[in-house]
Amino acid sequence: KITKNLLLNSKKTKFRITKIPILESFNYSSAVNRYLKKRKFKIVGLVPTMGSLHKGHIKLIEKSSTFCDETIVSIFVNPTQFNNKKDLINYPQSNKKDIDTVKKINPNAIIYKPEVSDLYRLPARAETFDLDGIDRIIEGKFRKGHFQGVATVVKRLFEKFSPNYAFFGEKDYQQIIVVKKLIKKYNLKVKIKSILTVREDSGLAISSRNILLNNENRHEAKIIYESLCEVKKMIKIYNFNEIKGFVSKIFLGNENFNLEYFCITENNSLKEVESFNPSVKLRAFICARVQGIRLIDNIALN
Ligand code: PAF
Repeated sequence: KITKNLLLNSKKTKFRITKIPILESFNYSSAVNRYLKKRKFKIVGLVPTMGSLHKGHIKLIEKSSTFCDETIVSIFVNPTQFNNKKDLINYPQSNKKDIDTVKKINPNAIIYKPEVSDLYRLPARAETFDLDGIDRIIEGKFRKGHFQGVATVVKRLFEKFSPNYAFFGEKDYQQIIVVKKLIKKYNLKVKIKSILTVREDSGLAISSRNILLNNENRHEAKIIYESLCEVKKMIKIYNFNEIKGFVSKIFLGNENFNLEYFCITENNSLKEVESFNPSVKLRAFICARVQGIRLIDNIALN
C-alpha cells in the first residue's frame, strides 16, 4: 500500500526539500528523521489533529502559522484514545480535503500523517501516566482510558518534533488540562497555546463528529450551548442544585438528547465545586448523547 505520509512543501522556506517521495509506511520514519536533521527553524508549532479538519482546526493552524516560524500539522486517528470500537470505526476521515485545507492556510506547513505502526509497536496500546487523577474525572469517568491514550500520542508527537508550542482548542478543555499536567509531570519542553471554542451559527461547538448528525439533531444540539449560557447567567443567583435541576429539565424536555453529565468545576484543577465563590474561577461542562453520538461543550463561568 502506497501512502503519501509526509508532505513537505517548502518552496518559501530557508531550505528546500523539493519532494519527499510518496513513502511506503515502513520507511516513513527515516523520512521524518531526515527532515528533522535538516530543519533550521527557530520556533516550531505543532497542531495535533485527528483529521476531518474544520473551522476550529483552521483557527489553530492559523494561530500556529502566525506565531511560529514553522507549523507541523499531525493528522492521526489515534486508536488508543477510543474506548469504544464503533466510535473509532465511525470517526470521520477526509484525507485529500484535509491536505488542501492545510495548504490553503499555510503552504509551508508540514503535514505529518503517520500509520499506526509509525507511532506504536503493534498492537497499539496506551502507556500509563500518573496524571494525578485528572484523567479519570468528567470525560474520563465515561471514557475509561481515553486520556491515557491522548497523553500517549501527544507525548510521542512532542518527542518526535520537539515543538516549542502546541495548539489545542478549548472545546476539549479537559484535554488541555491533561496535556498541561503531562508536560509538568514528565518535564516536557513545550508550551500550550489554546483558542476559544469555534461555534456553528446555532452556537453548537464545532466538532468533527457534527457531520454524523442528521439536520434536525444538528440544529437541536444548540440546546447544549444555550444551557451553558443560561448557567453562566444563573451562577451568582441560584444555588448549584437548582442549576443542575434546571439543566436536567432542559434535556428531559428533549427526547432525542440524553444528558450524560453536567458539572461545575474549578477552572484549573477541574475539581467539582458545590457553591459560588467569586474569587474562584469556574467552568461548566456538559456531555449529551444524540443518535448515539456524544457531544461535549464547556463554558467559563466568571
Ligand atoms: O483533540 C484531538 O483531536 C485529539 O485528542 C489529539 C489531541 C489530536 C490526540 O489524538
